[in-house]
Amino acid sequence: MASFKTLDQANVEGKRVLVRADLNVPMKEGRVTDATRIERLAPTLKDLIARKAKVIVLSHFDRPKGKRVPEMSLKPIAPVLAKAIGADVAFAADCIGEDAKKVVDTLQPGDVALLENLRYHNGEEANDQAFIKDLAALGDVYVNDAFSAAHRAHASTEGLAHMLPAYAGRQMQAELEALASALDNPKKPVMAIVGGSKISTKLDVLNNLVERVNLLVIGGGMANTFLNAQGIDVGKSLCERDLAETARGILEKAKQAGCEVVLPTDAVVAEGLKEGVATAVVDIKAVPADTMILDVGPASVRTLEAKLGGCKTLLWNGPLGAFEIKPFDVGTNAIAKAVAALTEKGALISVAGGGDTVAALNAAGVSEKLSYISTAGGAFLEWMEGKELPGVKALGG
Ligand code: 3PG
Repeated sequence: MASFKTLDQANVEGKRVLVRADLNVPMKEGRVTDATRIERLAPTLKDLIARKAKVIVLSHFDRPKGKRVPEMSLKPIAPVLAKAIGADVAFAADCIGEDAKKVVDTLQPGDVALLENLRYHNGEEANDQAFIKDLAALGDVYVNDAFSAAHRAHASTEGLAHMLPAYAGRQMQAELEALASALDNPKKPVMAIVGGSKISTKLDVLNNLVERVNLLVIGGGMANTFLNAQGIDVGKSLCERDLAETARGILEKAKQAGCEVVLPTDAVVAEGLKEGVATAVVDIKAVPADTMILDVGPASVRTLEAKLGGCKTLLWNGPLGAFEIKPFDVGTNAIAKAVAALTEKGALISVAGGGDTVAALNAAGVSEKLSYISTAGGAFLEWMEGKELPGVKALGG
């Protein structure tokens, strides 16, 4: 990880500070249903308030594609943000122009304003110079606290960093430090668990990780593609049979790199994915033709627990089974608990990320116990693919 400036190095007193946040949070009928990203933003805003900055929060919400789509307004988020930081939040009906300027001009040191959805303007996603200038005119300092949008080279995530003095916010800093501790500069041995349904969405992740970790555990539906590629009959299971050659290529690459690939040795099978269905535990080489693999079996869990015990760092993306439907959450929950216990003991640095992973760890009740859980989806995956994230690069990171 290259160096980037943090809030510790910023002189913000009395200055107008543009904070790029990611308030792209789950909403239902105008109400925020998961405020994690808002809560994670609070430390940066509280820090700036305490240091008497004039705080201007910028964010996108959803994908309005340059149009003012009322359902994609950030307005309903202002009171939730106010609650999270314990301070009033003014709202401007546009992120540039007179509406924005009027609200920004009224800010006193320690005040906070939220500007309307950046993506109401095409200039945001186009990283357009004129739009960047319009945004930059509202501030003196730029703080990026939106790691989860850092894979986008947009005006507010990338362009602004070149136009104003730029710093990483507290959340961005925590994220980059956690990620560096998992892959750039980890304590070894390092294990990665990659699960989820399809390898087609994670080919770059797998290809990058086999060269960077000591053990790669493949779980979820994607394990079936690897098993099938090794001539194992996976019955009716989800399986990308057309990617057998690709899967064999990844296994070969892992072998060359000295990375041990761990696949399930037993499985929980059922006729279909539904609650209350009859299940059986079978050896991985004896999956009945009319059943599907829906979770890792107990022998696989024991093997994973033992291997985890010998590791110092874990990077986790993707559940091991169809965890949304009981009882196919058992394998994922067992490993989540083992990871939490090792982390609490100080024996393991554990970093997890990606939408499904966070949901699975929440369901297992261990999300507070891991070293770090990223709220990023796409950005986390691109980072695991080894890609440079434009929003991070622009900060010098
Ligand atoms: C996310 O939720 O992953 C980020 O906010 C990025 O959103 P986007 O995929 O619409 O750019």
